[in-house]
Amino acid sequence: MSTATFAELLAQRQVVIVCGTGGVGKTTTSAATALAAAEAGRRAVVVTIDPAKRLADALGISELGNTPTVIDGPWPGLLAALMLDTKSTFDEVVRRNASDDDQAERILSSRFYRNVSGTLSGTQDYMAIEKLAELYDSGDWDLVVVDTPPTRDALAFLEAPQMLSRLLDNPIYKLVTAGNRGVFGIANKAAQTVVRQLARVVGAHVVDEAVAFFQSFNGMEKGFKDRAEATLALMGDERTAFVLVASPRSDTLDEARYFLDRIRQANLDAAAVIVNRMLPSTGLSLTQAQLLHVSLAATDGAGVSRALLDLATASAADDDRVADLAEAAPHAVLATVPMLADDVHDVDGLRVIADLLTR
Ligand SMILES: Nc1ncnc2c1ncn2[C@@H]1O[C@H](COP(=O)(O)OP(=O)(O)OP(=O)(O)O)[C@@H](O)[C@H]1O
Ligand SMILES: [Mg+2]
Repeated sequence: MSTATFAELLAQRQVVIVCGTGGVGKTTTSAATALAAAEAGRRAVVVTIDPAKRLADALGISELGNTPTVIDGPWPGLLAALMLDTKSTFDEVVRRNASDDDQAERILSSRFYRNVSGTLSGTQDYMAIEKLAELYDSGDWDLVVVDTPPTRDALAFLEAPQMLSRLLDNPIYKLVTAGNRGVFGIANKAAQTVVRQLARVVGAHVVDEAVAFFQSFNGMEKGFKDRAEATLALMGDERTAFVLVASPRSDTLDEARYFLDRIRQANLDAAAVIVNRMLPSTGLSLTQAQLLHVSLAATDGAGVSRALLDLATASAADDDRVADLAEAAPHAVLATVPMLADDVHDVDGLRVIADLLTR
């Protein structure tokens, strides 16, 4: 689906996933996007992932919460936010998929689960996507906006839906769950050797715990697979827009280009590119700034006109780089947001950004 403006995109889509490399403004943009949707009358919820928590504090959602907090304001729609709590989202996933309370408790109380659930690579992305699926399924929201974590590999979330089903597909899981009890009950000789060696390194009790942990997942694979498939379908069709945030610096623009390629390779829709923290406009074209500087060069105003010329030159270079990026994503909506004088850490700041995005 191609969309002409960011406002149209917010009106048409049900899910927006905001991605981009570290520090470009993903959390800010996610919250501003949800606010813009609420201002357009939609029921919008944003899932933020912000270890710094400044924005969350300002929105009154500083408590890690797994249910959305509604933020009151003069908008016709509904704005709600939650700050992702990876651990309790994982617990919810286990509870929902377990065949009964006993199975859920067995997993949740296992020391291995408690150690692994917070540290497994990709867990945060996976849980963000789980939360997205849950909020979408609830039917309570017209638009679910998802912030993505500040990882170096910002594309990890593309693989996130399959994290658990992959984990349970892996050969070790298959071996340990093939009807055995504990390390020394493993029938397969090769597996026994591997597990014995592992046990020597990390301790037999650790391996036993791991085996018991995996065995306790018995019967939950199908639930994980079905969820992964449904979520991939949601992310992959026109209900979902990927919004890429970049800064006008050339290194992040290169990353943005790479990112767009990867999104496209995954057959996903990079519906918008937002270039955040553009240099503020001087109100003069480059030529005007040059003329001004020439005419003031021999006066007391030379310092000011020099500064204006420098800013106009840098700003024109930003514009050129952004135009190049726009060519690389001809079907995406392009929006630019200037560098504001202050950090964005309250609803008023978000409204400024929301207005800029939808102007
Ligand atoms: N256009 C802007 N003008 C001024 N400050 C901005 C702008 N956009 C974002 N900021 C500020 O920059 C900082 C980083 O923004 P933000 O937390 O949204 O980035 P992020 O991409 O989510 O970072 P991370 O990758 O660490 O999660 C914040 O303090 C935010 O208030
Ligand atoms: Mg962030």
